[in-house]
Amino acid sequence: MKLYRFVIFEYMSKYIINGGKKLVGEVKISGAKNAAVGILAASIMTDEDVLIENIPDVWDINVMLEAIKVLGAEVTRIDRNTVKINSKNANLTELSDKDLGKMRATYYFVGALLARHHKSKVIFPGGCNIGLRPINLHLKGFLALGANAYEEDGYIITEANNLIGANIYLDTVSVGATVNIMLAAVLSQGVTFIENAAKEPHVVDIANFLNSMGANIKGAGTDTIRIKGVKKLHGTKYSVIPDQIEAGTYMVLATITKGDITIKNIIPKHIESISAKLIDVGNQVIAYDEAIRVIGSEIILPTSIKTMPYPGFPTDMQPQFTCTLTLANGRSKIEESIFENRFKYVEEVKKMGATITIDNTTLIVDGVKELEGRKIVAPDLRAGAALVLACLAAKGQSEIDKIEYVERGYEDFVNKLIDLGADIKKIEG
Ligand code: UD1
Repeated sequence: MKLYRFVIFEYMSKYIINGGKKLVGEVKISGAKNAAVGILAASIMTDEDVLIENIPDVWDINVMLEAIKVLGAEVTRIDRNTVKINSKNANLTELSDKDLGKMRATYYFVGALLARHHKSKVIFPGGCNIGLRPINLHLKGFLALGANAYEEDGYIITEANNLIGANIYLDTVSVGATVNIMLAAVLSQGVTFIENAAKEPHVVDIANFLNSMGANIKGAGTDTIRIKGVKKLHGTKYSVIPDQIEAGTYMVLATITKGDITIKNIIPKHIESISAKLIDVGNQVIAYDEAIRVIGSEIILPTSIKTMPYPGFPTDMQPQFTCTLTLANGRSKIEESIFENRFKYVEEVKKMGATITIDNTTLIVDGVKELEGRKIVAPDLRAGAALVLACLAAKGQSEIDKIEYVERGYEDFVNKLIDLGADIKKIEG
């Protein structure tokens, strides 16, 4: 079956940006993409209706919904951000459309299908090209639960007679492996412990969603997650948490444009590492119950950053901060410790006048007085967003190509920016 929504992803549209304006106003944050993708995969694990609210309307989510339809489930879009899924007739266990391999989170169908049908065949996940992104820890978890799990001819294949709870230690902290193993273990027999688990807010949100379906998961958000297998999951109604990376991106936007932005519908606790760094570089950051205001300072101070698993500084915010620090009054150091190939945007921002040296996994950024508008290309989702920020701060006009990457993860990006006073226009390819 051809998945019609996929063909929109052909890298042909661009943004035209006239930069140099202070962006001011309020922006409302959408649901967290990385939580929603896991929640959508998990929704196929029950026969009953699942109603999910606060789903962001972005490319990755729409692909996940198409994949759910391919498996035989009924998907009803109640409104733009609410979806009802019924998987009573979702009996298929194979996802093979090659377009599915262009995104990352389809790997969550492996854990979900293995849990529900005891088998799965899912095309190997792609996603942003930011490093090797192996799936050895996912497979290690499935094997420990008693499944046969392997990669073959571009597919991840799993099969099991029974899934039995196990103790699983993750050698590296991995969001994907933690969630995938959690999904597979939820319907197993006995108790599973995931040690050295990822603690990101979206891991906790997916666990909360599964618990609302009758799963028995404790400890999500700590190093050790305990999952007591249950026989069956039931329907639920659930609202996805706000997207902390989208929130962080708008916070940085206030900094780079020296503006004043209030970011609403967020959980300030989830963005503490970002707030701390923004204060370091000279901003005023005011936290409210469900909002945060960032008042950009006229002078951006240099700083040092090292990306770490949550609650450390998120790798998904690294490009946005680097672009901002190109305008700091001194030398900054940014170390990327999660993905080995996450600097592809550096050449693009250098075209705009930035001074950056790459030393293996570290960037040395010597701040310049201003950036100049250029024709550049978005290399991936977060780097693409970072380049948009750079263009909004730069003098003159910029053109950013392949912005479909950015729209994979930012709902209504252009409109939200225009509402803050940006001069940005999308040219459809
Ligand atoms: C998820 C996020 C992505 C974010 C990343 C790190 C989703 C859909 N994507 O990606 O936005 O940048 O977390 O916060 O939620 N690793 C292994 N073996 C494995 C799995 C991972 O060695 O089996 C390594 C990776 O190469 C990387 C590190 O673990 O160095 C973390 O990766 P992981 O947390 O798994 O990232 P993703 O789940 O792919």
